[in-house]
Amino acid sequence: MTRVSMQVDGVTYTDEVEPRTLLVHHLREALGKVGTVVGCDTSNCGACTVHLDGQAVKSCTVLAVQADGAEVTTIEGVAAPDGSLHPVQKAFHEMHGLQCGYCTPGMIMASIDLLKENPNPSDTEVREGIEGNLCRCTGYQNIVRAVQQAAGELSGSATTPETTGAQA
Ligand code: FES
Ligand code: FES
Repeated sequence: MTRVSMQVDGVTYTDEVEPRTLLVHHLREALGKVGTVVGCDTSNCGACTVHLDGQAVKSCTVLAVQADGAEVTTIEGVAAPDGSLHPVQKAFHEMHGLQCGYCTPGMIMASIDLLKENPNPSDTEVREGIEGNLCRCTGYQNIVRAVQQAAGELSGSATTPETTGAQA
């Protein structure tokens, strides 16, 4: 067993873990962060995406020991302390960017990272930015609309999906 310490959603946790433990399993099973989900066993789906020191990563591709000393943000840590949804969460809700919701935590974490890198992405750039995240339900169109609505809100502009020519 190896001692690891990491800050997750603003709280520092120190635990003994097996060296082979994946970060996603540590988050879910040791820390109770079950908002981060596992959707595959091939590192393809992106449902497990979290932020590791500010970068979106698939937490099934990272060992818990590799996150020692790191700052991790999960979907459970993106809302404001008063419970107000993050603009990206709000946009997914308002634009119907989800159906079953299984992909949604990872989609939102990937989208937040995308908008940090590119605050005003085109449709194509949104699709490229979330290409590591699979959705079996929505056909992606409303996800793209949601990301663009969030981009408008985060940048304070009046840009809406309607003004970009996106179709439902
Ligand atoms: S569970 Fe991590 S990519 Fe699918
Ligand atoms: S909403 Fe069902 S997988 Fe995306």
